[in-house]
Amino acid sequence: MTTWPSPSGIVVSARGLTKHYGDRAALNRIDLDLGRGVTGLLGRNGAGKTTLLRCLATAHDPDSGSLEVLGHDPTTAPGRARVRAQLGFLPQNPVFYPNFTAFTLLDYIAILKEVGGRRARHDEVRRVLDQVGLTDRRHTRVRRLSGGMRQRLGLAGALLGEPGLLLLDEPTIGLDPEQRIRFRDLVSEFAATRAVVLSTHQTEDVAAVCDRVVVLDEGLVVFADTPAALTDRARGRVWSLPERPSTGSTSWRSPDGRYRVLTPHGAEPPAGYGGIAEPLEPTLEDGYLLVTGSAEGTVAA
Ligand SMILES: Nc1ncnc2c1ncn2[C@@H]1O[C@H](COP(=O)(O)OP(=O)(O)OP(=O)(O)O)[C@@H](O)[C@H]1O
Ligand SMILES: [Mg+2]
Repeated sequence: MTTWPSPSGIVVSARGLTKHYGDRAALNRIDLDLGRGVTGLLGRNGAGKTTLLRCLATAHDPDSGSLEVLGHDPTTAPGRARVRAQLGFLPQNPVFYPNFTAFTLLDYIAILKEVGGRRARHDEVRRVLDQVGLTDRRHTRVRRLSGGMRQRLGLAGALLGEPGLLLLDEPTIGLDPEQRIRFRDLVSEFAATRAVVLSTHQTEDVAAVCDRVVVLDEGLVVFADTPAALTDRARGRVWSLPERPSTGSTSWRSPDGRYRVLTPHGAEPPAGYGGIAEPLEPTLEDGYLLVTGSAEGTVAA
């Protein structure tokens, strides 16, 4: 039975989703609707990204609130089974059996996922190995693969069986520039008809590949819109100065020796630099720093 794509196009729907570890709310009454395409999760360390992905992946039961994934309720046993059958999940720190080869490891995961008979399953393993560029390493034992190759192997495992929803926790960590471009291409193609939710600390990945971006901060959604809208939050608030301003803004040194300055409170040049501050085009990272309040003096939106 498949419910994908749902008539509404909604793949994930959360209302008041809450998850505690002890007294601490890792997710605090989250409301979220995600459709097909690529959704990027941004947020500082400990913001709740992994906790949210684990709830969507049925690895965690939320404490309260409602959750629908691919049209099913993953907090019930039958719902959980249906979601798992249509899901690909790359955890943040995947654990592999070190003595398995790349091929046998994927074949093992494909058996667990009940992918076809032996021949169809092997074809599927070869397909995903090719997708992540590991065909020539298929007989290499996991312990002999480099960190980036293991990361790609984890991604291949998530792609097995053409899931309707792909959940990727920091998938581009350790990838070299060529592999990162290949990854973006693969994810965009996959998401043309299905849904991907990925967490990352790389704002360039979000700008390059995501249709939507959700920013979490201390278990709350502080922003949910397009990457362009996140960049726009910083429009008129980014300046170039020949020196570091003393207070009221966040600044960092650029390779050209000038200072990139974020002014959190409005589209005015930093105080005292009216004549010499040059306005700069904002980036998604600037918008992210402003909405999370990471820029000095900011109140999170
Ligand atoms: N197993 C656990 N036991 C107790 N607390 C936990 C556990 N897992 C996460 N937490 C806490 O929950 C909060 C959210 O953690 P989570 O791993 O979801 O953050 P994250 O956004 O994925 O961070 P990172 O960018 O570092 O991966 C943090 O305060 C963290 O310390
Ligand atoms: Mg995490």
